[in-house]
Amino acid sequence: MGLSHTPVLLRESIDYLVAKKSGVYFEGTLGFGGHTQEILTRLSGTGRVVSTDVDSTAFDYCKKLFDGEKRVSLYNYNFSLIDVIAKIESIEFFDGVLADLGVSSYQLDNAAAGFSYKVNTELDLRLNKSLRKTAADFINLETEKMIADVIFEFGEEKNSRKIARRISDFRINKKIETTDELKKIIASVTNPRYLTKTLSRVFQALRIYVNDELGELRSFLENSMSVLKKGSRLVVISYHSLEDRIVKEFFKYENLSCVCPPDAPICTCGKVSRLNIITKKPITPSQSEIEINKRAHSAKMRVAERT
Ligand SMILES: C[S@@+](CC[C@H](N)C(=O)[O-])C[C@H]1O[C@@H](n2cnc3c(N)ncnc32)[C@H](O)[C@@H]1O
Repeated sequence: MGLSHTPVLLRESIDYLVAKKSGVYFEGTLGFGGHTQEILTRLSGTGRVVSTDVDSTAFDYCKKLFDGEKRVSLYNYNFSLIDVIAKIESIEFFDGVLADLGVSSYQLDNAAAGFSYKVNTELDLRLNKSLRKTAADFINLETEKMIADVIFEFGEEKNSRKIARRISDFRINKKIETTDELKKIIASVTNPRYLTKTLSRVFQALRIYVNDELGELRSFLENSMSVLKKGSRLVVISYHSLEDRIVKEFFKYENLSCVCPPDAPICTCGKVSRLNIITKKPITPSQSEIEINKRAHSAKMRVAERT
């Protein structure tokens, strides 16, 4: 399996993002460079892109891809460090910020990446291999209740308690070490008709938990406010409802200029509006894009402008 990923909502996202040919743009989810490349094509010789990815395979691949391209700076950092990266680069403000959340096709399809239940490999699921806890550590060491809660909260899986009980029974005799072992445990308490969906949900839940994906997303959104230039845009593409809800709620809250109780005689909260919402409803891929790239089917893109 090659190193590849087909970028989602490519033209649409960059149309919203790039307004200034000589601007400085940030991409928090470099992947295999599709969006970064498209930003570059819209920039003049003086424009710049600063891109990062926690995954070192993606980072190494893009180091080679953009070798000699002076307008690009690459980082192997978490995107929540957007403000730190801006400081390192001596950038006060970005002219636009993009995040294309989740994982790439390479991460999902490649055994070496260890993100899919479809290939038997070590049960790891860390995007950043320097994180201390793998998915195997989590399911071998945590309480049954905690495992059930994670599967329910981050996978929205109704059978979370049954699955956690079976994990807890299994690990009495043997540590759970591989994706196949976990898959068999889940299959033993799941109706075969729903197995594919359940496996996706459980693996997704563990990945979100191990990488604290929702916490990092919240930090990224908050930290981007201090380095996004007034009048510039924040563009976020998400792939599941938990992420999309966080983006939607953040945009809504940052749009408000007052959070006092409705019956308060005067405003005392001191809140200021930091974002104008550009996309009242999320933008989704066209049918033709989904036909070419079925991973695009769940994508939702939201755009807001710094005020
Ligand atoms: C959907 S892919 C991005 C694809 C990319 N836009 C392209 O065109 O090739 C998501 C990427 O974000 C990375 N990622 C996920 N969470 C991240 C985080 N908190 N910080 C930095 N990168 C992250 C993943 O490792 C993955 O490579």
